[in-house]
This record gives sequence, C-alpha cells and structure tokens, in this order.
Amino acid sequence: MQEAVQADLRSFAGQLKDDPQLYQIVEHHFGWAEAAAGGKGVRPLLCLLCCAAAGGHWEAALPAATSVELIHNFSLIHDDIQDRSEFRRHRQTVWKVWGEALAINAGDALFSLARLSTQRLELEPSRLLALHRILDEACLELTKGQQRDLGFSRNGEGTLAKYVRMIEAKTASLLAASAAAGALVAGASPPRQQAFQAFGRQLGLAFQILDDVLGVWGAPGQTGKSVGQDLLERKPSYPALYALEHNSAFPALWDDPTSDLPSLLEAVEAVGSREAASQAAGEYTTQCLSSLAAAKPLEPAAGALQGLANGLLTRRS
Ligand code: IPE
Ligand code: IPE
Ligand code: MG
Ligand code: MG
Repeated sequence: MQEAVQADLRSFAGQLKDDPQLYQIVEHHFGWAEAAAGGKGVRPLLCLLCCAAAGGHWEAALPAATSVELIHNFSLIHDDIQDRSEFRRHRQTVWKVWGEALAINAGDALFSLARLSTQRLELEPSRLLALHRILDEACLELTKGQQRDLGFSRNGEGTLAKYVRMIEAKTASLLAASAAAGALVAGASPPRQQAFQAFGRQLGLAFQILDDVLGVWGAPGQTGKSVGQDLLERKPSYPALYALEHNSAFPALWDDPTSDLPSLLEAVEAVGSREAASQAAGEYTTQCLSSLAAAKPLEPAAGALQGLANGLLTRRS
C-alpha cells in the first residue's frame, strides 16, 4: 500500500513539472530528488487500511489516500514557516531554502492538488460530495487548531484540557478524516464510518502527544527535526504544559525569556512529564482500539490497523 501511495503521489504531482522551480521545491520536500525520507505516510495508510477493513478494495481509495497525504504536506510546509522550524525529514525546510513567499505558494499548490486528486475517484456524485465535506471540514479544523496552537495562552487552570482541544483540531482531525474517507470509499454505513472516524481521531491524539515527546527527547538523527526547539520557543506541548501544571517552580522559568534548554529540560523532567505524556498517549491508544473494534473491521486489515496503532506508541521518528 505504501508503495502504491508513493507512486500515485509522485505521478499526480508530476503536473507541477511545467513550473520547474515549483516542482523542485515539492521534490525537495518529499525527498524525491535525493531518494531520501519523505515521511511515514501514516494518513494514507490509515485511509487504505480502513477502506479494506470496511470491506472495500483499497486500490479504489488510492486517490483519497494521495489527497490526505497532500493535505498533510501542505500543512507541514506552512507549519514550518509558522513555527520557524529549520529542519524536517533530515533536510532544511522549504522556507529556509527558498524563502517564505515560495514556501507559502508551494503549500498552496499541494492543497490544490489534494482537492483535484479526489476527482479521480469513481464514486457517485453524492458520495464524492460527502467525501469532500469530510476533507474540507478536516482542513478547516486543522487551521483552527493551528490558530489555537499559535495563539496558545496559559491561564493556570485547564491548560491541559485546552491543549487536547488544540491537538484534536490541528492533528487528530486529519487522521480522523483519513480513516473516515477510506470507510466511505468502501461504502460503509454512516455509523460505521463514524466508528472509523473516532478511531482515527483518538489515534491522532496519541500521535500528537508522542510527536511532542519526540520534540523534547527524540534523537535528531532519528526524528530529522531540531530537538528542544519547542521548549526554547515556548510552544504548547504536552510535557511543557504538564510541567506548568505540576511543577510550581516551572512557570517562572518558562516566562523568563533567558532560560536555557538544560534548565527548562530539568524542570520538565523533575515532575515526570515524560511518563505522564506516555501514559496519556497509551490511554488514547486504548480508546482508539475500542473504537476500531466497534467499527467491526475485517481481517487482515484489522490486524494491520491494530499493529499501526500499537507501533506508533514506540515510534522514534
Ligand atoms: C508531523 O506529522 C506533524 C504532526 C501533525 C504530528 P508526521 O509525523 O506524520 O510527519 P511525516 O509525514 O511522517 O514526516
Ligand atoms: C503540526 O504540529 C500540525 C500541523 C502541521 C497541522 P507541530 O508543529 O507540532 O508538528 P511538527 O513537530 O512541526 O512536525
Ligand atoms: Mg511544527
Ligand atoms: Mg506547529
């Protein structure tokens, strides 16, 4: 499935080749130019496996799988500008190499391709419209999540609950839509689609909490991103917010712009933030497995989806 997505994505993005620089930017972002890392492909895999698990032919869902991967990558190119991130997938980010203006434009190109990709699906018009609603709503939710992430303010109480609402929008919505889109292409009933969607959403919450853990304690050689940057930039992440709620000495350190990484790290670790984050991710994974069971997934895709959910818990990149 992963190979099929890669091949489809690459051939579909080939329509950018008439603008050599735009294509060069996209090639760099996906690692095609250097035959390097292009991302884990979690969202398209979720889409195809959910299609198979709902009784469909996964090949039929390939344009939808390509679409969710394009949406994800448009959001990453824009996110790196928003977060001032200099490295992704072991390479310099698009804005770092070509500047913000061309990075915004390349993100927009991927967003447009994502919408065009679904036109290739052989679905009756009403079902195609329903699929578009799922994807468009996820895009809208994602931008609301980014808004909350970028404007995150800590107000003492309920910070972690606010964080969960933020990551549900910025990350989990697209994983939820990926799962639901696969089930929709398979012809699943609306309640079954919703069970797959809930599975994707809870998996997405676990996924983002682990992304935050890797942002603090991951190995740059494995994550391909700069580690510690989120803490230095005071980004809202599960470990930092947990420490703000549980370590009374941490808020002052956090609010002091001169605090360095070792002292921030020490204060975060002192109250067991890493363990708390892993536990929270484990709980969302357990919830997502119950939602998956409620969707009555067919084998062998069911086993693969369970393996995907459990495997993400121990991911290093
Ligand atoms: C990173 O997503 C951004 C998040 C929403 C957590 P991924 O970890 O799926 O990124 P790639 O595509 O594998 O690089
Ligand atoms: C990414 O969130 C969410 C979206 C791109 C919508 P982050 O900013 O936490 O992800 P990384 O760590 O840069 O990949
Ligand atoms: Mg980021
Ligand atoms: Mg971000």
